[in-house]
Amino acid sequence: MADRSYIMLGIESSCDETAAAIIGSDKTIYANEIASQMDQHAEYGGVVPEVAARAHLEMIDVVIDRALQRAGLALADIDGFAATAGPGLIGGLAVGTVTAKAIAAARQRPYYAVNHLEGHALSARLTDSIGFPYLLLLVSGGHTQLLAVAGPGRYHRYGTTMDDAAGEAFDKCAKIMGLGYPGGPAIEKAARLGNAEAIVLPRPLKGADHCHFSFSGLKTALANKLKQIGGADQAPLHDLAASLQAAIADCLADRSQRAMRQFAADYFSSPPDTQPVLVIAGGVAANKYIFAQLADTAGKNGFRLSVPPAALCTDNAAMIAWAALERHNLDK
Ligand code: KG4
Ligand code: ZN
Repeated sequence: MADRSYIMLGIESSCDETAAAIIGSDKTIYANEIASQMDQHAEYGGVVPEVAARAHLEMIDVVIDRALQRAGLALADIDGFAATAGPGLIGGLAVGTVTAKAIAAARQRPYYAVNHLEGHALSARLTDSIGFPYLLLLVSGGHTQLLAVAGPGRYHRYGTTMDDAAGEAFDKCAKIMGLGYPGGPAIEKAARLGNAEAIVLPRPLKGADHCHFSFSGLKTALANKLKQIGGADQAPLHDLAASLQAAIADCLADRSQRAMRQFAADYFSSPPDTQPVLVIAGGVAANKYIFAQLADTAGKNGFRLSVPPAALCTDNAAMIAWAALERHNLDK
């Protein structure tokens, strides 16, 4: 028994997804279930906290049951229970943490409170064998940060956004363009048919001698372009989407390049004895165009790029269970 994989059930409910996953300490993904509330929020153009909290309450038992069924396991087979404890919308966090704590207490198993950002930060290690330290570009709807990840709980932040997150820029611009919510996937789809050089948009902070980001000026520039054109009805939406995606990708690549230099100087000898790794995580990492641009920049700077599969980039419970397992492995 001592050698068998430790099995963790994780819950994620910090925003608009109710998710449960069962992961083994040997990296087996037994189940990774998700119930999205996106349809319920789409008509409002963003997540409504009260609607989200009620939907989490309705779905939490359902997704846990689905995960157990998919895994072919019973609650008695689970060794530990984890839930996202923050940051996020308080109603959803309460539903997830109270559920995980209650089951853990009833089954007399440990409970792990997981930071949502740490879930994203460590997710790449579930599917790729990456050692510490690595450089992380975390790009989600709420955060855009560059961090050195030296181990679970051991982070050094090089840069963060001064205003909007990259995903927020996608979402707000998509809303102005009438492309719906969530904006990132809608803009990526529209951009496939557009010309990225058609509309000139700024690259805020490009070349700056630090690793911070700024995206709100990009949103204002796009809104001004739309006004000049005469509104979203008249606008070449595909070209606008492609130009916006290129501008965001360009900013992410430029700031990451700055951080790669800093990270290499901080953690690696010159020349490095192993190849340093840049990990991208968070919902925006699911964007193929951004991946290609960052892969190119990483390669030019001697880094390998690692991106979790799309289902592990956007919010999910596998990353929460995995982050709890990383903690568990530290305590062994
Ligand atoms: O990590 P995530 O699922 O939730 C947060 O913790 O925020 O990220 C959601 C964000 C949203 O802003 C969404 O528009 C963006 O990720 N996103 C994308 C894509 N898929 C999701 N942005 C660009 N391209 C995509 N394909
Ligand atoms: Zn997230």
